Amino acid sequence: MDYQAAMDAIYTRGWVIVDDFLTVAEVDALKACLPGEWQPAGIGRDALHQGNPDIRRDQIHWLEPSLGAPVADYLARMESLRLAANRMLMLGLFDYEAHFARYRSGDFYATHRDAFAGRSNRRLTTVFYLNNDWLPEAGGVLRMYDDKEQFLMDVTPKGGRLVMFLSEEFPHEVLPANQERYSIAGWFRVNGNGMGRVDPPR
Ligand code: OGA
Ligand code: MN
Repeated sequence: MDYQAAMDAIYTRGWVIVDDFLTVAEVDALKACLPGEWQPAGIGRDALHQGNPDIRRDQIHWLEPSLGAPVADYLARMESLRLAANRMLMLGLFDYEAHFARYRSGDFYATHRDAFAGRSNRRLTTVFYLNNDWLPEAGGVLRMYDDKEQFLMDVTPKGGRLVMFLSEEFPHEVLPANQERYSIAGWFRVNGNGMGRVDPPR
């Protein structure tokens, strides 16, 4: 992939779609690493983490290199992206967290933002799709809105496609899919939430 072009797009408009980020064979290898066990996705973090099927119905499994070499390779690619984003955009990204997500037929994720200024350390969202041969009638599009909550675009969750966007700026939702839909959602994070800085005394 052309890192410079991708980072330029994120810099100028806040999002980018990279098709064929991985090949069909690489997507299949990642799918072979899908876990046997899933947990219901929660909303919010830590103590506030709780399932809410009115908002989201997907199931998740956090990525770890021990899930297999293709997963370790994926995480290594994300590390290269992190370094490129820091070099070209000076985002100060500190680490990356990601999970597999499974939407069964009828599952959805209502409109949300992945981060709120000052309340989250997530800065840059990545969503990678594992659905080779996804047809329009299968639904399950990622519907994105701009910062003023106006419709921006629908993104088909087709295999090999990587979407990246600034986590605080783009509300988005996953419309119901009519068949199983797999993705890897991930977030590059800064260290701390960027707020509460203490200026040195003068
Ligand atoms: C998420 C999310 C989008 C998608 O997991 O936060 O918005 O297309 N996923 O899977
Ligand atoms: Mn999201």
